[in-house]
Amino acid sequence: DSSITSSSLSRDIVEVLKENNKNYLVLYGSQTGTTEDYAKKFAKELMAKFGGELNVMCGDLENYDFDNLNELPANIIVSIFISTYGEGDFPDSSIPFEDYLNSLDPSEKPLSSLKFTLFGLGNSTYEFFNGAGKKCKEKLIENGGAQLIGEYGEADDGMGSTDDDYTNWKDKILVVLKDKLKLDEHEQVFQPSYKLTNLNEIDNSVSLGEPSIHYIPIHKDEYLSYNSDKHQQLGPFDTNYPYVAPITQIKELCNPKSGRSCCFVEFDVSGSNMKYSTGDHIGIWPSNSNEAVNQFVKCFQLDESKGFSLTPLDSTVKLPFPAPTTIGACVRYYLEITGPISRQFFSSVAQFAPTEELKAELEKLSKDKNLFHSEIISQYYNVADALLKLSGGAPWNTVPWEFLIETIPRLQPRYYSICSSSSMDKQLVHVCCMVEQQVISQDRVSTGVTTNFLKQIECKENGSTYMLPPVSYDLGGPRGLYNKNKLPVYIRKSGFKLPSNPSTPVIMVGPGTGVAPFRGFIRERVEYVKKQTDAGNNVNLGKHMLFYGSRDSNDALFMNEWEEYKKMLGNDDTFQLHLAQSRVPGAESKYVQDAIKKNAVQLVELLNQGGFIYVCGDAKNMAKDVHRNFGEILAEQKNISYDDAVEMLKMMKVSGKYQEDVW
Ligand code: 2AM
Repeated sequence: DSSITSSSLSRDIVEVLKENNKNYLVLYGSQTGTTEDYAKKFAKELMAKFGGELNVMCGDLENYDFDNLNELPANIIVSIFISTYGEGDFPDSSIPFEDYLNSLDPSEKPLSSLKFTLFGLGNSTYEFFNGAGKKCKEKLIENGGAQLIGEYGEADDGMGSTDDDYTNWKDKILVVLKDKLKLDEHEQVFQPSYKLTNLNEIDNSVSLGEPSIHYIPIHKDEYLSYNSDKHQQLGPFDTNYPYVAPITQIKELCNPKSGRSCCFVEFDVSGSNMKYSTGDHIGIWPSNSNEAVNQFVKCFQLDESKGFSLTPLDSTVKLPFPAPTTIGACVRYYLEITGPISRQFFSSVAQFAPTEELKAELEKLSKDKNLFHSEIISQYYNVADALLKLSGGAPWNTVPWEFLIETIPRLQPRYYSICSSSSMDKQLVHVCCMVEQQVISQDRVSTGVTTNFLKQIECKENGSTYMLPPVSYDLGGPRGLYNKNKLPVYIRKSGFKLPSNPSTPVIMVGPGTGVAPFRGFIRERVEYVKKQTDAGNNVNLGKHMLFYGSRDSNDALFMNEWEEYKKMLGNDDTFQLHLAQSRVPGAESKYVQDAIKKNAVQLVELLNQGGFIYVCGDAKNMAKDVHRNFGEILAEQKNISYDDAVEMLKMMKVSGKYQEDVW
């Protein structure tokens, strides 16, 4: 996005490094922003520890060409951070890097001068765990002839240990780098990447929290399209430039007796040129609640009304968010102030602690993983909660705003599986999301940022008070951009797709909101049958089995719709719904995997006919249990060993016949 780049950058890595006097390179490939965040943290820590000696450049792999990676000066080490997405895939933006790796000719070893460290971020609940990281390692070393410095590191989000995995790897790598590059370590000193200038006046060119600078009215009296119903915003839209979409329908799906809340939301993206296809995801940009903003501002004693501009100190850094802006807008719209805290944050904020005791306390906590977990993580503290707790409520006004801007991660969009069908619902995108309101203790509730925002809109629209969020949001958004119930969204393609031949049997497993994409799938098939019938064609639809689980009938989603779909798909049992109920004594099945066991014969028959399996929902337990039960029924019915059955499932995954959309 050229608009937030400080100056136009060359795509030649060697040239950019030299021009900016950099002597260390950090490159990342990120899908959702997490990997970018870790890469930046790593770069910051190198600068803080070895500043004076290391001048680090940190960049996105997508911004560079790789042909002269081998010509980097001999003293330069490249640290690569790469995440894995879907079935062992590279992040979308790093596909050119993957192509480059594939092009390396092992007979030439074209990267024999390159020295690199490598850290992969992945999720072990997926079959091809850290597939992109592993591929980088193999191709760079074996085909490129490059030299790996230190250990290859892997983070596993499936075990919820990304932060610990990173810290363990990073601590070891810093020792190796110190030795290799003969560096002197000193106490951490924050090295800003931007020059901050305070503004005297807040005019139209100042962002008040717009999701992209494209939305900021630059000239007096001249507003961009969002302010005018006559114009459409022009795409293409991406994660830097989301579409501010109107919400055209919003309702509660759960029965109040359930004590749970699930919001159904319909966005109209017809003004965006953005197309989706059934099974894709939608990213929704949240904003922080008034309560979270107030707590943060109180902790660091910030003046929300103050405006500031940022100037990158060299041309390799981009602005982290649209600026100039105000402190209040930044805290509310751009910073992830309620996310879990990392140990790294404690270790770097220690230098600014208001007292020596607090500094020592932060250092102790950051070094002791178990203590950190029991005192901080398990309490669901956010940054401000944790620091105020440690200081007994005394403010942390010694922490510079410049430091916070660069150290608190950027607020990321939340992704949801779309539950509508692009052929039936066209440009209307449906999502259903469980509203997260988790009671931590008597006076504390942990709340999901986006889901409670949506819930507040739902309550306002429908005049309901059911599960009203315990926090409040500014629903109007910056300059009223979200008035009339609008929110910034962006459609992310996914590989979670129905078989192209409608006669192929389809087995769908999705308890809870995991049912979302399957509602889309079934609507897709309903539309197909309708079209074929209208055209007078014969319909040959394969069997579609849906395994759906809820606690009881009060939190069961779309129950009235399933009956309709059944009728529309033909009265034989082309579409079968198998229900599991986890909290109804005597229910036929407790969990979806139990229902799978009960239908073993029919399921294996469908698999023999080339049926596809789709699993959506909880990655930690459900997807694993379901996978195991499919293994067990295959072993039983086919009279083969469990290991052979698992191998079969693996082959299905490789060929796209066993797909997962899990989180
Ligand atoms: P619970 O009542 O035990 O929480 C959707 O949230 C449904 O998924 C709930 O009925 C929930 O049951 C159920 N669930 C919880 N753990 C599961 C698992 N390991 N496998 C399948 N379903 C599970």
